[in-house]
Amino acid sequence: MLDGTESWVPDELAFAGRENRDPTHAKRYDQIEDSGAANEVAMLQDWGMGANAKVVDMGTGTGQFAVAASPVVAHVTAVDISPVMLDELKAKLASLGLANVSCELAGFLTYRHSLEPADLVYSRYALHHLPEFWQAVALSRMASFLRPGGLLRLSDVVYGFAPDETAQRLQSWIDTYAPAAPGDQPSWARADLEEHIRDEHSTFTWLLEPMLERAGFTIEEAVYSEDQVFARYLCVRR
Ligand SMILES: C[S@@+](CC[C@H](N)C(=O)[O-])C[C@H]1O[C@@H](n2cnc3c(N)ncnc32)[C@H](O)[C@@H]1O
Repeated sequence: MLDGTESWVPDELAFAGRENRDPTHAKRYDQIEDSGAANEVAMLQDWGMGANAKVVDMGTGTGQFAVAASPVVAHVTAVDISPVMLDELKAKLASLGLANVSCELAGFLTYRHSLEPADLVYSRYALHHLPEFWQAVALSRMASFLRPGGLLRLSDVVYGFAPDETAQRLQSWIDTYAPAAPGDQPSWARADLEEHIRDEHSTFTWLLEPMLERAGFTIEEAVYSEDQVFARYLCVRR
């Protein structure tokens, strides 16, 4: 298993996305992104996430899920490679007095799980920051600290269409967002989507799914957005 200290492991902060290294973006993140964390927690409780659950949130960002899960599980380890995103979560934890969330400044390729195996690994909109080869390695690392029978909840921008549909599908997606204009409320804009497609590493569902299986997961549920741009997986560690 990759240790994460190898000299040839990529600098994950360099791959983490321009905006995620930007303190201004980190401060406004919760205004522009609602991860639907309460619904996710309820859905995962239906799948067996109970009061004794040990949870790891990989690429936690400002920790919307970690904060929502905290009152109903035993412990959450909130992992992120970006100090400015993690600082936002630390401030929230202090003001809310949530003592069962610990923050780890680390990445998919470097996080070392020192606790007993986790019951749930959660990761939303983060894995696409790694190139595909490294996504496969990251999935295998996540499987290594999840107990057999434990859950992986993975959501991301993952393309469900064929390569020759790329221009039409992605242009339609971009066209659903307006260009940023002065005085706008903070929100995602066309330029953010263009940057995502150009500079980040979202892959195809039909490439990611075999990677999940190969890493030791069985995909129990896969939900795709109508525009074939987002995918959500509920997987069980074999
Ligand atoms: C779009 S935000 C998503 C945050 C949160 N999961 C959510 O759903 O609101 C992506 C997060 O992934 C983090 N990230 C990017 N690359 C990472 C890596 N290699 N390891 C861990 N976190 C990473 C970024 O710093 C950022 O906080």
